[in-house]
Amino acid sequence: MQPVLDYLDQNRERFIRELCDYVRFPSVSAQPQHRKDLEACAAWLKNHCESIGLQTRLCSTAGNPIVVAKTPRKPGSKRPHFLVYGHYDVQPPEPFELWKTPPFEPRIEGRTLFGRGSSDNKGQHLAHLNAVEAYLKTGTELPCDITFVIEGEEEVGSSNLGIFLKENQAELACEGIIISDNGIPSLKHPALTYALRGILAIEVILHGPSRDLHSGIYGGSVNNPAMALCQLLAGLRDKNGRITIPGFYDDVVKLSTFEKKQLARLPFNEDAFRKFMGVPELFGEKGFTSVEQRTARPTLEINGLTSGYQGEGSKTIVPSWARAKITFRLVPDQKPDKLRKIVLAHLKKLCPPNVRMEVKSGHGGEPYIVSPTGPQARAAMRALKEAFGHEPVLMREGGSIPIVNDFKKLLKAETLLLGLALPDDNAHSPNEKFDLDCFEKGMRMGAFLWRELAS
Ligand code: BES
Ligand code: MN
Repeated sequence: MQPVLDYLDQNRERFIRELCDYVRFPSVSAQPQHRKDLEACAAWLKNHCESIGLQTRLCSTAGNPIVVAKTPRKPGSKRPHFLVYGHYDVQPPEPFELWKTPPFEPRIEGRTLFGRGSSDNKGQHLAHLNAVEAYLKTGTELPCDITFVIEGEEEVGSSNLGIFLKENQAELACEGIIISDNGIPSLKHPALTYALRGILAIEVILHGPSRDLHSGIYGGSVNNPAMALCQLLAGLRDKNGRITIPGFYDDVVKLSTFEKKQLARLPFNEDAFRKFMGVPELFGEKGFTSVEQRTARPTLEINGLTSGYQGEGSKTIVPSWARAKITFRLVPDQKPDKLRKIVLAHLKKLCPPNVRMEVKSGHGGEPYIVSPTGPQARAAMRALKEAFGHEPVLMREGGSIPIVNDFKKLLKAETLLLGLALPDDNAHSPNEKFDLDCFEKGMRMGAFLWRELAS
């Protein structure tokens, strides 16, 4: 093991340079004009995996290619097989004006690397690649077979990865999946995450008059779709932060006393958290702590709201339509398909007869929960402790990685979530960053992990 750790130390600077190269690709999966950048990014990654000694192929899909890279297999060996999953696509960088320096020109300040995708997710899976590189380049025998599956459509719902898993089920069958695409409370609190929230996305459009109308000549005689939409949305949540859709909470599993205690152990400074988000006061479902609200309770968020004239100055119209993009976060045992029906029926009931409602169904993903006390979880806890030098905590995450449920169904294996992001990494926000200490501790965690998982 020592040569592996020494190799990681000796190649520090190069690893950081390579992460900068990787972050330089504007691999924004949501925006069609970046298609070529995604391909170039995947090609860079394939090259990189080959150069460190992995057997690598680029798998084309109906969308962006998937990179599959395997440690060299020994014929006849009975080593356990693990998958490492990551994504090379990133969220849109907009609004550009809020970035201190351009999102795809990585900048290092002290022990922090700034750039879109640095934390979510390029830096996190690169740490695992570096750990495996250290084994391969020092000739240290790996106690496991490892396959990296790195996709380019996570931020838009992973629809082609699901198909790819079905087509390659036998090759990818494994004992477990490792994902570092989530967070830890601090460098002193490395964590094993045992639950993720699910997601349900919909778009609601209310159509009023067939075109924008003069609001003086016609206003008062037709319903205003923007107003109708506001009223409809406002009715979906009460003043205590509870969602009012009948049946919405039916399948929510209550937190056990044990879990409530575990979550209460997580470090949390309410005032710092409030300031970080820049709000005058926190708000959430009454009767739950902030950590519980964010990780163990379902939510409804309006992600985007558009109607009427948005330009400078005023324009006196009754808009022709109004649109809201909405996502719900789900917790065990809520199911997106069942909730979609419940939500649509309720919206239909609320919609007044003087506008026409159109609902577009978006992506869905089930919540995920796994026992944090199984043998693999305990192995991961040991690797975390050794790499970070602190006792790890158990936590739930509020974000979603829907593909973990496909891994479970199709590969019959559970996922270990070993995040390397810090709470202030600004994922999906301007000035995303990745902490270089997290990067280095992550590599060491990766190195210890294979030994512990095999033992
Ligand atoms: N890495 C995040 C998910 C995440 C963040 C999990 C923090 C746990 C903690 C991932 O890239 C992401 O943003 N996923 C989307 C999924 C959606 C597009 C289906 C999300 O959670 O919004
Ligand atoms: Mn991610």
